[in-house]
Amino acid sequence: MSLSIKQAAAGAMPALLQPWTPRGGAVVWLTGLSGAGKSTLAALVQRRLQDSGQRSFFLDGDQLRQGLCSDLGFSAADRRENLRRAAELCQLLVDAGHIVLAAFISPSHDDRAMVRDTIRRGEFIEVYCNASLSTCEQRDVKGLYARARRGEIPNFTGISAPYDVPETPNLELPTGSCTVDDAVHRLIDLLVRRGIALPL
Ligand SMILES: Nc1ncnc2c1ncn2[C@@H]1O[C@H](COP(=O)(O)OP(=O)(O)OP(=O)(O)O)[C@@H](O)[C@H]1O
Ligand SMILES: [Mg+2]
Repeated sequence: MSLSIKQAAAGAMPALLQPWTPRGGAVVWLTGLSGAGKSTLAALVQRRLQDSGQRSFFLDGDQLRQGLCSDLGFSAADRRENLRRAAELCQLLVDAGHIVLAAFISPSHDDRAMVRDTIRRGEFIEVYCNASLSTCEQRDVKGLYARARRGEIPNFTGISAPYDVPETPNLELPTGSCTVDDAVHRLIDLLVRRGIALPL
């Protein structure tokens, strides 16, 4: 008896199969202030996709800053170069069939447009994690806002550098008021509705 791919993926021969995604790959780009919840959501959604056998990758701005982009600072030009490299990396991962969950503050409207234009194959989904500056500053997950207020970090988004609010994101998540679970559900729901991910 021959097995369909779906039957096989359901457990008959999992070790022999590559996880897959229905439409071959996409970039889910999470933008928002530091502390808005980008990494939290990207990590959780990626884990949910992976656990259901869908090829996915979590690409975090902090991680890139420590390696591939460790030569860059936070001037407008360096931020743009940081995102250009991130976008090219996203494209390679899309070419390999991944749903990429990319978490980058990406404060400039023009830079986000550049990222969108760089994604030549696969879909680009912009997700705005909308938490107010005061909420993010209260959270101050990394203690960066306190340091920025003391003047120790120049060009800090929201304090001494601008954040351009996305005008037409594919999804806006009120991460300052909703629960993490709710935001995860909304994001997965969008991916399923657009045919990017299979129902989990
Ligand atoms: N609805 C929500 N969505 C995401 N995070 C939330 C939500 N509600 C509360 N949080 C909390 O907000 C914090 C967000 O921190 P996180 O590191 O994910 O932010 P970030 O946007 O990645 O910041 P940075 O740009 O500095 O990396 C976490 O402690 C998370 O638990
Ligand atoms: Mg983060």
